[in-house]
Amino acid sequence: MFELPELPYAYDALQPVMSDKTLRFHHDKHHAAYVKNVNDMVNASAEASRSLEDIISGAARSGNRKLFNNAAQAWNHAFFWLAMTPNAEKPTTELESAIKGAFGDLNGLKDKFVAEGAAHFGSGWVWLVSDRAGKLEVISTHDADDTLTKEGVTPLTVCDLWEHAYYLDYQNDRKGFLEKWFDALPNWLFAARQYAAARGSGEAWRYPASSAEAARRSA
Ligand code: FE2
Repeated sequence: MFELPELPYAYDALQPVMSDKTLRFHHDKHHAAYVKNVNDMVNASAEASRSLEDIISGAARSGNRKLFNNAAQAWNHAFFWLAMTPNAEKPTTELESAIKGAFGDLNGLKDKFVAEGAAHFGSGWVWLVSDRAGKLEVISTHDADDTLTKEGVTPLTVCDLWEHAYYLDYQNDRKGFLEKWFDALPNWLFAARQYAAARGSGEAWRYPASSAEAARRSA
């Protein structure tokens, strides 16, 4: 069984950018449903003892879209919660230098991130990613698609572009949501750890092991 990760902050901690009501629905209903669906699909099969990352990669390779969509959405949302913080700080020195190199400054990154997310057609995710050399890029992915299936790409931060992420608070104003989100919520300390991992220092974040995976590892 994969667990639904608890939010690392209170439901009202991201207000006024993200309301208590939005976060409750988003985490307790949407994210919970993806995790439940994955468990329903993999329990009692050999898949159950694999990591969520392996399940996502395997489903992508075999073309099992239903499993891929639910597993990737379970992963993306867990990553999204960690990519936000109520205690916003600026990017750390190393990451700041990389941002300057790629986008001029933090405002340049914001412009690119907001423009990419606002122009993305339909549901999906907008990501700041790094390659193994530390080169940064802003990309968007459709629906449940993530960066796990992209070789050599590590996500540093992400924002959810599905309407359930912002409609209660911003209605159809995705751009307005993204602008406020970028100014207040990115967890740059988390992004910095991911950035170090992208270049081979430390481990990139992984979804918490399921009970079956933990049992297999300790056997
Ligand atoms: Fe979402």
